[in-house]
Amino acid sequence: MTGWTEQDVPAVEGKVAIVTGANVGLGFETTRVLAKRGATVVMACRNQQKANAARDLVLSHGVAPERVRVSALDLADQGSIEAFADEIKAEYDSLDLLINNAGLMGLAESKTADGFDTQFGVNHLGHMALTLRLLPVLNETAGARVVTVTSFGHRPGRIRLDDPNFEQGRHGRWRAYFQSKLANILFTAELGRRLDAAGAGTLSTAAHPGYSRTELGKDDPGLRATLFSFSDRIVAQSAAAGAVPTLRAATDPDAVQGALYGPRMMAFGTAVPETPSRTARDAELAAKLWDLSMDLLAPAKVSW
Ligand SMILES: NC(=O)c1ccc[n+]([C@@H]2O[C@H](COP(=O)([O-])OP(=O)(O)OC[C@H]3O[C@@H](n4cnc5c(N)ncnc54)[C@H](OP(=O)(O)O)[C@@H]3O)[C@@H](O)[C@H]2O)c1
Repeated sequence: MTGWTEQDVPAVEGKVAIVTGANVGLGFETTRVLAKRGATVVMACRNQQKANAARDLVLSHGVAPERVRVSALDLADQGSIEAFADEIKAEYDSLDLLINNAGLMGLAESKTADGFDTQFGVNHLGHMALTLRLLPVLNETAGARVVTVTSFGHRPGRIRLDDPNFEQGRHGRWRAYFQSKLANILFTAELGRRLDAAGAGTLSTAAHPGYSRTELGKDDPGLRATLFSFSDRIVAQSAAAGAVPTLRAATDPDAVQGALYGPRMMAFGTAVPETPSRTARDAELAAKLWDLSMDLLAPAKVSW
């Protein structure tokens, strides 16, 4: 199987894409390439000042201004997710690509506006709610895709079915991150199964960037100043290279339901199809996580 580089990303003229966390890192690079290839991209970001500066940077790559717009989305707040989805559904009759990219890693115990563990709440529940709210318009669009960005860190992950928000057990910043990234893949697979069962043509795929130089982990300054400052120079690939698995998951015409793409050499390299961990392929666990997540999202009136 040939690995993809940025040059392999096909034209996406006329397509509408949403990229969450588009102001920096992988989300910025994904936006840049999709817009350069002809898509209209909505940069869904929590900080409008940063997002506007990032949009200017995308435009400096020769992208027409009408190709990129900024919109407010805070995945740590179900109210913000609902408002964003309503705005999109009011403005667009079709939506070709939803790229669930935004994420937080390794932050100390904290809760979202709705009381979820922040990493589980933003990385998984926020994106699940966003996806389900946008499904009506995605399913109206021929060939639509939902791409969810996970991590190699899904492999040590475990889903705490009885306590996903660490209300009883001791919080662990890495346990919380790995759980959220395993949840991303289980969600991708279960969404795909449900889309197929409903006869919808929408594809659900996943990608991970290996180890890419971005701002991820900035919530733990100690980590960035020690381990990352060293390993960023030795092992990490650029954010542009790290975005290619996402771009392949979004545009490879041969992608199948539930496909995962990652770098050929685990941390770096061209983007190739990858087999998720055994736990991530557990359909029973995926169904349980789905039901648990729907229960948690019920107060926000998220449904399918
Ligand atoms: N870099 C890697 O090596 C690596 C490895 C494995 C997986 N990943 C995954 O790749 C994805 C992108 O990460 P990155 O490396 O590009 O990190 P990054 O440079 O830190 O970018 C993360 C983005 O997510 C946004 N974000 C965080 N919380 C949010 C919220 N509540 N609502 C909306 N947006 C929010 C950030 O916004 P602000 O700028 O406002 O903070 C930022 O735009 C994540 O899902 C991460 O888990 C990355």
